[in-house]
Amino acid sequence: MSLILDGKALSEKIREEIRQEIEGYLSKGFRPPTLAVILVGDDPASQVYVANKEKACHKVGIRSLSYRLPQNTTTQELLELIAQLNADEEVDGILVQLPLPSHINQQEVILSISPKKDVDGFHPENMGRLVARMEDGFIPCTPLGIDLLLNHYGIELKGKDVVIVGAGFIVGRPLSLLMLWRDATVSVCHIYTKDISEYTKRADILISATGVPKLIKSHMVKEGAVVVDVGISKVNGKILGDVDFEEVKEKAYAITPVPGGVGPMTVTALLLNTLKAYKKRIKA
Ligand code: GUN
Repeated sequence: MSLILDGKALSEKIREEIRQEIEGYLSKGFRPPTLAVILVGDDPASQVYVANKEKACHKVGIRSLSYRLPQNTTTQELLELIAQLNADEEVDGILVQLPLPSHINQQEVILSISPKKDVDGFHPENMGRLVARMEDGFIPCTPLGIDLLLNHYGIELKGKDVVIVGAGFIVGRPLSLLMLWRDATVSVCHIYTKDISEYTKRADILISATGVPKLIKSHMVKEGAVVVDVGISKVNGKILGDVDFEEVKEKAYAITPVPGGVGPMTVTALLLNTLKAYKKRIKA
């Protein structure tokens, strides 16, 4: 039985620290940090994620401005809202929940967000800072949350073989840059990888972000590895990760549960990024 990397518990600790820090600013007469959250359409999973993010904001004292736009919103309408939020001195962060409906130009939307308010870290300017190892950018929330979790449990990354399964824009690609920043030897597998298990079996730290339930089986994991599960799939009403937890927990040194692992850390990273944007804006 392996060590459980408890993202829920660590999140509670960090969020309490964030709450106290914000309380300090408010007591000095500063306005509250403010995050604008935009959700286009009615994807049920996105609705849950966005509601979670807004609830977490309120609990720590971040004001959230909620924009729920209909499915048929045009790219132009979304760009106009973002321009207005970019210009609003009291808005610190702007989050556009992805995926957007397919008729909307996602790249154009991401490019339109002011890099200073890009708390998701998706703007190429912030992705570029991640490549350049510049501390003042915003790191995408899931990679940042994973980094905080591994660091909290004292899991060394320098010189380790980190294997990431999934090369998506939100997790796999930025995570590979962050792990490289931490001096790991990074491999990224994706749908064209010939034999994923050839890579996963070598991993000191295996991170799966595919959304394919129970993709990672015990035979694909090295004895004593650290396994991080980013997947969240709903199967017959049950939430499943990418990792076959029951099997893999017997072989791994440490493992994240689903739920209660990476998910809460992603939201905590969003709160941290929003606080960072706020502090720069008020020049605290
Ligand atoms: N959809 C899935 N994960 C994320 C995220 O971290 N940020 C945004 N904006 N959308 C997402």
